[in-house]
Amino acid sequence: MKLIRILSSLALCLSLWTSTGTTQTLSDPEQGLRIMANRQQGNCVTCHQISVLRDAKGIDGATGKQGDFGPSLDGVANRYSLTQLREWVTDARRISRHTLMPPFGTLEGTSQASPSRPILNLEEIENVTAALATLR
Ligand code: HEC
Repeated sequence: MKLIRILSSLALCLSLWTSTGTTQTLSDPEQGLRIMANRQQGNCVTCHQISVLRDAKGIDGATGKQGDFGPSLDGVANRYSLTQLREWVTDARRISRHTLMPPFGTLEGTSQASPSRPILNLEEIENVTAALATLR
Protein backbone atom coordinates (compact mmCIF):
# COMPACT_ATOMS: atom_id res chain seq x y z
CA MET A 1 0.00 0.00 0.00
CA LYS A 2 3.02 2.20 -0.52
CA LEU A 3 1.37 3.64 -3.59
CA ILE A 4 -1.60 4.87 -1.61
CA ARG A 5 0.70 6.58 0.85
CA ILE A 6 2.60 8.26 -1.96
CA LEU A 7 -0.63 9.31 -3.60
CA SER A 8 -2.08 10.73 -0.44
CA SER A 9 1.03 12.72 0.39
CA LEU A 10 0.98 13.97 -3.17
CA ALA A 11 -2.61 15.07 -2.70
CA LEU A 12 -1.64 16.81 0.54
CA CYS A 13 1.21 18.65 -1.18
CA LEU A 14 -1.14 19.69 -3.92
CA SER A 15 -3.74 21.03 -1.52
CA LEU A 16 -1.06 22.90 0.47
CA TRP A 17 0.27 24.32 -2.76
CA THR A 18 -3.13 25.53 -3.90
CA SER A 19 -4.02 26.90 -0.49
CA THR A 20 -0.85 28.97 -0.14
CA GLY A 21 1.23 30.45 -2.96
CA THR A 22 -1.12 30.24 -5.89
CA THR A 23 -4.26 31.77 -4.45
CA GLN A 24 -2.20 34.78 -3.46
CA THR A 25 -0.56 35.24 -6.82
CA LEU A 26 -3.72 34.32 -8.72
CA SER A 27 -6.14 37.18 -8.95
CA ASP A 28 -4.03 40.22 -8.19
CA PRO A 29 -6.03 43.08 -9.72
CA GLU A 30 -3.11 45.53 -9.56
CA GLN A 31 -0.99 43.16 -11.59
CA GLY A 32 -3.92 42.66 -13.96
CA LEU A 33 -4.17 46.38 -14.61
CA ARG A 34 -0.46 46.48 -15.39
CA ILE A 35 -0.90 43.66 -17.91
CA MET A 36 -3.81 45.52 -19.50
CA ALA A 37 -1.72 48.65 -19.97
CA ASN A 38 1.36 46.77 -21.12
CA ARG A 39 1.80 46.98 -24.89
CA GLN A 40 3.74 43.70 -24.88
CA GLN A 41 1.11 41.73 -22.97
CA GLY A 42 -2.62 42.43 -22.71
CA ASN A 43 -2.41 45.66 -24.64
CA CYS A 44 -6.12 46.07 -23.98
CA VAL A 45 -5.78 49.87 -24.12
CA THR A 46 -5.06 49.69 -27.84
CA CYS A 47 -8.71 48.79 -28.42
CA HIS A 48 -10.45 49.85 -25.19
CA GLN A 49 -10.91 53.06 -23.22
CA ILE A 50 -10.20 52.35 -19.55
CA SER A 51 -10.38 55.51 -17.41
CA VAL A 52 -8.30 54.20 -14.50
CA LEU A 53 -5.48 53.43 -16.93
CA ARG A 54 -5.57 56.78 -18.69
CA ASP A 55 -2.18 57.80 -17.34
CA ALA A 56 -0.68 54.33 -17.02
CA LYS A 57 2.70 53.80 -18.57
CA GLY A 58 3.24 50.91 -20.97
CA ILE A 59 6.41 48.82 -20.92
CA ASP A 60 8.09 51.38 -23.16
CA GLY A 61 7.29 54.12 -20.64
CA ALA A 62 4.87 55.77 -23.05
CA THR A 63 1.46 56.89 -21.78
CA GLY A 64 0.03 55.99 -25.17
CA LYS A 65 -3.40 57.00 -26.34
CA GLN A 66 -6.24 54.55 -25.79
CA GLY A 67 -8.08 53.17 -28.76
CA ASP A 68 -11.83 52.90 -29.29
CA PHE A 69 -12.01 49.91 -31.60
CA GLY A 70 -13.83 48.03 -28.83
CA PRO A 71 -16.30 49.38 -26.25
CA SER A 72 -15.12 51.30 -23.18
CA LEU A 73 -14.38 48.90 -20.33
CA ASP A 74 -15.52 51.40 -17.70
CA GLY A 75 -18.26 49.74 -15.67
CA VAL A 76 -17.74 46.39 -17.38
CA ALA A 77 -18.08 44.55 -14.04
CA ASN A 78 -21.69 45.76 -13.90
CA ARG A 79 -22.42 44.15 -17.24
CA TYR A 80 -20.83 40.71 -16.80
CA SER A 81 -20.26 38.05 -14.15
CA LEU A 82 -16.75 37.02 -13.14
CA THR A 83 -17.09 33.88 -15.28
CA GLN A 84 -18.12 35.91 -18.31
CA LEU A 85 -15.28 38.38 -17.79
CA ARG A 86 -12.84 35.47 -17.70
CA GLU A 87 -14.32 34.16 -20.95
CA TRP A 88 -13.97 37.51 -22.66
CA VAL A 89 -10.25 37.45 -21.89
CA THR A 90 -9.60 33.76 -22.51
CA ASP A 91 -11.53 33.50 -25.77
CA ALA A 92 -13.94 36.32 -26.68
CA ARG A 93 -15.46 34.10 -29.40
CA ARG A 94 -17.18 32.07 -26.68
CA ILE A 95 -19.36 35.10 -26.00
CA SER A 96 -19.33 36.91 -29.32
CA ARG A 97 -18.85 34.37 -32.08
CA HIS A 98 -17.47 36.60 -34.81
CA THR A 99 -15.62 39.03 -32.59
CA LEU A 100 -12.51 40.82 -33.74
CA MET A 101 -11.08 40.73 -30.24
CA PRO A 102 -8.09 38.33 -30.17
CA PRO A 103 -8.23 35.28 -27.89
CA PHE A 104 -5.70 35.80 -25.09
CA GLY A 105 -5.83 32.37 -23.48
CA THR A 106 -5.96 29.91 -26.36
CA LEU A 107 -4.49 29.26 -29.79
CA GLU A 108 -7.56 27.30 -30.88
CA GLY A 109 -8.64 28.25 -34.37
CA THR A 110 -5.87 30.79 -34.83
CA SER A 111 -3.01 30.71 -37.31
CA GLN A 112 -0.50 32.45 -35.12
CA ALA A 113 2.90 30.92 -35.78
CA SER A 114 5.20 32.29 -33.15
CA PRO A 115 5.36 32.14 -30.22
CA SER A 116 3.22 29.01 -30.21
CA ARG A 117 1.56 29.71 -26.88
CA PRO A 118 -1.39 31.86 -25.87
CA ILE A 119 -0.66 35.58 -25.30
CA LEU A 120 -1.48 35.31 -21.58
CA ASN A 121 -0.97 32.37 -19.21
CA LEU A 122 -3.57 31.21 -16.68
CA GLU A 123 -2.22 33.34 -13.86
CA GLU A 124 -2.16 36.44 -16.04
CA ILE A 125 -5.73 35.77 -17.16
CA GLU A 126 -6.85 35.48 -13.53
CA ASN A 127 -5.16 38.78 -12.74
CA VAL A 128 -6.76 40.53 -15.70
CA THR A 129 -10.16 39.04 -14.78
CA ALA A 130 -9.74 40.34 -11.23
CA ALA A 131 -8.82 43.76 -12.60
CA LEU A 132 -11.91 43.81 -14.84
CA ALA A 133 -14.03 42.93 -11.81
CA THR A 134 -12.92 46.21 -10.17
CA LEU A 135 -14.21 48.31 -13.09
CA ARG A 136 -17.63 49.31 -11.76
C1 HEC B 1 -7.75 44.18 -31.32
C2 HEC B 1 -8.61 44.90 -30.43
C3 HEC B 1 -8.88 44.37 -29.04
C4 HEC B 1 -7.97 44.09 -28.05
C5 HEC B 1 -6.45 44.17 -28.12
C6 HEC B 1 -8.74 43.74 -26.89
N1 HEC B 1 -10.09 43.77 -27.18
FE1 HEC B 1 -11.63 43.46 -25.86
N2 HEC B 1 -12.97 43.77 -27.35
C7 HEC B 1 -12.66 44.14 -28.64
C8 HEC B 1 -13.89 44.34 -29.40
C9 HEC B 1 -13.99 44.75 -30.86
C10 HEC B 1 -14.94 44.08 -28.50
C11 HEC B 1 -16.46 44.21 -28.80
C12 HEC B 1 -17.22 42.97 -28.65
C13 HEC B 1 -17.31 42.09 -29.85
O1 HEC B 1 -16.47 42.15 -30.73
O2 HEC B 1 -18.26 41.31 -29.91
C14 HEC B 1 -14.34 43.73 -27.22
C15 HEC B 1 -15.04 43.42 -26.05
C16 HEC B 1 -14.49 43.24 -24.81
C17 HEC B 1 -15.24 43.03 -23.59
C18 HEC B 1 -16.75 43.10 -23.44
C19 HEC B 1 -17.11 44.56 -23.28
C20 HEC B 1 -18.59 44.86 -23.23
O3 HEC B 1 -18.95 45.84 -22.57
O4 HEC B 1 -19.38 44.14 -23.86
C21 HEC B 1 -14.34 42.85 -22.59
C22 HEC B 1 -14.61 42.60 -21.12
C23 HEC B 1 -13.02 42.96 -23.19
N3 HEC B 1 -13.15 43.19 -24.53
C24 HEC B 1 -11.83 42.84 -22.48
C25 HEC B 1 -10.57 42.97 -23.05
C26 HEC B 1 -9.33 42.82 -22.30
C27 HEC B 1 -9.24 42.57 -20.81
C28 HEC B 1 -8.32 42.95 -23.20
C29 HEC B 1 -6.83 42.82 -22.95
C30 HEC B 1 -6.39 41.59 -22.32
C31 HEC B 1 -8.92 43.20 -24.50
N4 HEC B 1 -10.28 43.21 -24.37
C32 HEC B 1 -8.19 43.41 -25.66
C33 HEC B 1 -11.39 44.33 -29.17
C34 HEC B 1 -10.21 44.16 -28.48
